[in-house]
Amino acid sequence: MSFAGVDHVGVGVSDVDAAIDFYGRSVGFDRILFDWTGELPGLEPFAGREPRVRVAMLENGGATPIGPGRVKLVQVLDSNGPPPVPEGQAWGEVGVCEICLHVRGVAGVHARLVAAGCAELMPPISAAVEPNDVALDISYVADPWGTKLELIEWTGLWRSLPGPARAEGVNHVAFGVTEMARTRAFYERLGFTELLFESVDFFDPMAPWYEAPWYDPRNLPAQHMTMPMSAQGAAIEPVVLDPPGHDCRGEWGHLGPMDFGIRVTNIDAAAAELRGDGIDVYGEPQTIDLGGGREWRTVAVAEPDGNYVSLVEGRF
Ligand SMILES: [Fe+2]
Repeated sequence: MSFAGVDHVGVGVSDVDAAIDFYGRSVGFDRILFDWTGELPGLEPFAGREPRVRVAMLENGGATPIGPGRVKLVQVLDSNGPPPVPEGQAWGEVGVCEICLHVRGVAGVHARLVAAGCAELMPPISAAVEPNDVALDISYVADPWGTKLELIEWTGLWRSLPGPARAEGVNHVAFGVTEMARTRAFYERLGFTELLFESVDFFDPMAPWYEAPWYDPRNLPAQHMTMPMSAQGAAIEPVVLDPPGHDCRGEWGHLGPMDFGIRVTNIDAAAAELRGDGIDVYGEPQTIDLGGGREWRTVAVAEPDGNYVSLVEGRF
């Protein structure tokens, strides 16, 4: 069965038009694959209802194999509108905590995003990760709505295509979990079998993100990070904090990064296969008619820590 990595990361926004403009103009997600408004079926396990939403799926026309993932903008339209960003989220608490874009020329893209209104969270630095000593350049900014955007160029893996500095698609999604071994086993079953790196040291440039009263800045938690990759699609970066942070999943649809989808080629077969292996899949795959013969098929899965994860088969 082909699981094909992370398809997209979902980001809650308060104004899809403004977010399409920002992500399209400033980040390079210039292709709108669909822009749909309606009651989203199959989300009872995450949202407690079929929320009325506007969803726009964006792709970066310059995405390369190492930055292939999409961004899904979600604006909750019912109840009281988009739920707020989880309070006190630093990085690595249970919940989705970052979108990482592969870029060419981290410094150039970073400067451009800051000029476009992003807050600088970490200036560009070069590093290497163990156990394979893979080199990378990284930086962090926050989009205008507070989403942490990591910019990475995996210079030790792939230097990208020639051309000016530019952001590509999503390289990986980071999210907090509570037990690394259990998480690794779960995602291995979903195709994330290749370990790019594992780190147990606190990444010092992130220290300013861990603020009181949620954290004691003089006594920061240990960070255990791994990056399991699939042969295709974007990767995942599960993180365990020790001692554990508070639950930052928030309500489904909240502002900021909040869910992600794993691409499959046949969602009915994938759901049946997972169920056969004892992995909880919430009901039958749902089909959202996008018009013009296009469909978006999705089903929620029971991720070990209750992170909002779905399988997705896109026919658009
Ligand atoms: Fe990351």
